[in-house]
Amino acid sequence: MFTFTNNILVTGGAGYIGSHIIELLVKKKFKVFIYDNLVTGYKKLINKKAVFIKGDIKNSKLLIKTINDNNINSIIHLAGYLNISEGQKNKKKYYKNNVIGTLNLVKACKNSTVKNIIFSSSCSIYGNIKGSVSEKNIPKPKSYYAFTKYKSEEIIKKYGKRFNFKYGILRYFNVAGASPSGKIGEIEKSYGHLIKNLAIQSTKLRPKVDIFGNNYNTKDGTCIRDYIHVSDLADIHILVLKKISSSKKSLILNCGYGKGYSVKEIVEIFKKIKKGVIIKYKKKRIGDVAQIYSDNSKLKKILKWKPKFNNIQTILKSAIKWEKKLT
Ligand SMILES: NC(=O)c1ccc[n+]([C@@H]2O[C@H](COP(=O)([O-])OP(=O)(O)OC[C@H]3O[C@@H](n4cnc5c(N)ncnc54)[C@H](O)[C@@H]3O)[C@@H](O)[C@H]2O)c1
Repeated sequence: MFTFTNNILVTGGAGYIGSHIIELLVKKKFKVFIYDNLVTGYKKLINKKAVFIKGDIKNSKLLIKTINDNNINSIIHLAGYLNISEGQKNKKKYYKNNVIGTLNLVKACKNSTVKNIIFSSSCSIYGNIKGSVSEKNIPKPKSYYAFTKYKSEEIIKKYGKRFNFKYGILRYFNVAGASPSGKIGEIEKSYGHLIKNLAIQSTKLRPKVDIFGNNYNTKDGTCIRDYIHVSDLADIHILVLKKISSSKKSLILNCGYGKGYSVKEIVEIFKKIKKGVIIKYKKKRIGDVAQIYSDNSKLKKILKWKPKFNNIQTILKSAIKWEKKLT
């Protein structure tokens, strides 16, 4: 039997993905501590069975106190800013929050009980790729947001060696959908995530969909992405935590289904669910890459992971169902 911690700190645990991971952790009887400043997190997403600490990862003192007072053994680090366009315009803000915040967090692990850290990285660190992308590809971040994720990965690797913790760096592809429990889902609207936008439009009498760019070098001119259901992604975190604590080996993993859909394809599926959709083509967004989808063979092999919600209609419908509940 592996011994892995019961005391887990989740930074950004009041957010979309964090709340889904916590729902699973609580079900599995872990003792969960949420550390979040609620900048894009929501009280409604805070799990009642977890301890909530309102804090900023830029606050080193409070981080150190939280880790030591609660004998934290593992950290799942999701706190960060993730608006690509905003990151391009406000680099300092993104550097401070995402890079310095991560540095504070790993430094707070010095002389502590922390043995494992899982980090929410992003497929955007790879840049523009033809075909699928594996963990062996050399990162070439295109947006500033992606650069902050890449820098954070480097910091975690460096401090892992220095302070003797194992890490799981998870490079998420496009996360979408909502928990089958019906209790949690994506609330924040500002990111411009396609499936969230479609879900919002599904609640309208005259749904309008903006497509940003239709002259990309892809099969139909629109961007290609690999969408992963948030509950499948949450599951991967638990498996990685078990894996790194039992094997005492760090891991870097792509988290996607290995299938790319163009924006047009997703909108076509949406049009079958919702009638009368008006489509508007708009300018490309700065920082968006033409296409990216995962080679997830390492994920499948190492974790023996099998997705449960990898049907694009299921993902879209679950996001729509959640949105209905919100309005
Ligand atoms: N959603 C995606 O498709 C996607 C894809 C790749 C990577 N990611 C990464 O996953 C993580 C979670 O994303 P999400 O979609 O759940 O977004 P989210 O905005 O719902 O969650 C981020 C959480 O971090 C908190 N936070 C931000 N800055 C903080 C700070 N300085 N101190 C404390 N808390 C802070 C916010 O309040 C929020 O609750 C992010 O790091 C993001 O970069 C997300």
